Amino acid sequence: MQHQAIGIFDSGIGGTSIWKEISLALPKENTIYLADSKNAPYGKRSKDEIIALSIKNTEKLLDLNCKIIVVACNTATTNAIKILRSSYDVPFIGIEPAIKPAAIQTKTKKVGVLATKGTLSSELFAKTSDLHANDIEVIEVVGTGLVELIEDGKIDSPEMYTLLTSYITPMIKKNIDHLVLGCTHYPYLIPSIKKILPDNVTIIDSGEAVARQTKAVLKTNNLLNNTLETGTHTFYTNHDIEILKSILKHNNSSLHIRRLTF
Ligand code: SIN
Repeated sequence: MQHQAIGIFDSGIGGTSIWKEISLALPKENTIYLADSKNAPYGKRSKDEIIALSIKNTEKLLDLNCKIIVVACNTATTNAIKILRSSYDVPFIGIEPAIKPAAIQTKTKKVGVLATKGTLSSELFAKTSDLHANDIEVIEVVGTGLVELIEDGKIDSPEMYTLLTSYITPMIKKNIDHLVLGCTHYPYLIPSIKKILPDNVTIIDSGEAVARQTKAVLKTNNLLNNTLETGTHTFYTNHDIEILKSILKHNNSSLHIRRLTF
């Protein structure tokens, strides 16, 4: 069981930001990543559709013999993780916007959250926000179009910069001092976001916390791979393989990137 892979899925290529943190924290683990880019973005879909897609991805990862599943997508986590946990025996790790650390650290008592419509309108997001941020102002902005541009490989494009400026400027005007990235695609936008944000605003994403949590859950369940070798990593996409290769800067022989129908 320990040698089986960690399964990771996302609505597309963005969850590779989470995979990077997991592979750094757990270098001996084998991983299998599913990029469901054909169905991206999940953020625009209904709750029922997000649940159905999350079940499809989970079943594929279980067919591939994964020992734990990381839902590397905020939209899928906030809408589907409860059902996944009650339907399958393997442990699931989810991603929630990191509102808690932002709420603890803010001095201006104003925190921005950039996420998809599916995440911001979910019950789980409302609960997290009420629990951790009821004494601060949370300025929520839907990042319409950002995931689509990332999936098209236009991370560093003029269109991206224009969209980001239009989403972030109103938050700056409201005096936020923390910006929470509530979508696993968005860490790829950090260099552009930094050009727009003033220096006093801290960007927070969930990658490291998710890697730590994955390690802790593997340990508790006696699932850590105790081999002496470094893990191998297989990525499957049901869409454009070149974009996935370019985001992974594919020059490492331990990465296997393939197209798959799922
Ligand atoms: C999306 O597919 O809309 C974005 C994925 C995420 O919320 O992390």
